[in-house]
Amino acid sequence: MYLLGRLILRAIKIHKKLQNVNDVKVITIIGARPQFIKASVVSRVFKQCCESVEEILVHTGQHYDENMSKVFFDELGISKPDYNLGIGGGTHGQNTGRMIEEIEGLLLLEKPDWVLVYGDTDSTLAGALAAVKLHIPVVHIEAGLRSFNRRMPEEVNRVLTDHIATLLFAPTELALKNLLKEGIERSKIHLVGDVMYDAALYFYKKAEQKSKILETLKLSSKEYVLATVHRQENTDDKHRLSSIINGLSQSSVPVILPLHPRTKKQLNLFGINIGTPIKVVEPVGYLDMIMLEKNARAIATDSGGVQKEAYFYQVPCVTLREETEWVELVEQGVNLLVGYDENAIAKSITASFSHRWMEGMYGDGEAAYKIVNEIQYTQL
Ligand code: UD1
Ligand code: UDP
Repeated sequence: MYLLGRLILRAIKIHKKLQNVNDVKVITIIGARPQFIKASVVSRVFKQCCESVEEILVHTGQHYDENMSKVFFDELGISKPDYNLGIGGGTHGQNTGRMIEEIEGLLLLEKPDWVLVYGDTDSTLAGALAAVKLHIPVVHIEAGLRSFNRRMPEEVNRVLTDHIATLLFAPTELALKNLLKEGIERSKIHLVGDVMYDAALYFYKKAEQKSKILETLKLSSKEYVLATVHRQENTDDKHRLSSIINGLSQSSVPVILPLHPRTKKQLNLFGINIGTPIKVVEPVGYLDMIMLEKNARAIATDSGGVQKEAYFYQVPCVTLREETEWVELVEQGVNLLVGYDENAIAKSITASFSHRWMEGMYGDGEAAYKIVNEIQYTQL
């Protein structure tokens, strides 16, 4: 598959020489863990393919602990950010406001042709807003996802970003439909598949070779449940968070919980104790996470990325939310939405549901190539 990608790029290069394509300068704004993973595949293609494209990486600093940030740069081969704004740990308003101010300054200095943002975090919205107010066109990767729950900060971030973007890359058919329903012009939208699927295909072998996490944690394949919890609506509500922990505590096999710093803070604040069978570990790097996911009996999560990875590695997924943006997984019966109900969680992590693979649901593993190609050829 990657051979095909490289062939496409070679063809693009030759074509470009013939066409005499102009140089393009892209500023990519990233700041949170999943964005490092997504950017790793797109930045690699930028580097491989195009002498005429210059990518400048800006890390907002939204995630700053070593195991939430540096580990991904180290193990995924992402270049050191050209700028690190060091803005994290504040409220949504503080973070977003300070990021806009700093990013605006950088954009005035660097004068890029495009600003590229990923997903739905505060860094995404800040990058998009700073750019659009300077009339710099915005590229949005992972456009069109909707939970239809405006109480989620992510829903607000993604809706606003989609409506001010010039190039929108939708990962799924449903995302494309959502954008069209909201009146966004068809010509701006490209259905390319999901860059997280590209990442899973690219890094799986490396994870198998390098990760020692199963040995370190003394885990046997299919004899544990993997859980992640970090959504604001789960972590900031004592009742919901206790209920999730109580549900996971009823597992008959160990539950590995790589603990997001937000959740750690809230567990301490609420005085919620965790004991056997849950084993809390620090957040892990992406390669370790792949192995933990692949070998889990089931995954319980409120993460967007982890829901899809459960599908990629054919592991049943129990989603600790009332709704999901990845509706197709629920429709396929491979993802069960259980919310925070203690009994539903306890029951579903032990239930076995069969896995169905739907070819092409998240693209063909070439999303990054398609994205880079489109950015190069879109006439401004
Ligand atoms: C953010 C994104 C969310 C994404 C998640 C990925 C927004 C609104 N939310 O949520 O969409 O799914 O990242 O993980 O942008 N903290 C640390 N160290 C860190 C990072 C965070 O201690 O390296 C703590 C701080 O107390 C911080 C809190 O976690 O205030 C929340 O971090 P923040 O980046 O605001 O939101 P996330 O919950 O991580
Ligand atoms: N992830 C990781 N280590 C962890 C937890 C998650 O590498 O300890 C990876 C996970 O495999 C996925 C991404 O981080 O690729 C998902 O990020 P997160 O759950 O923080 O955010 P979301 O996808 O919900 O926005």
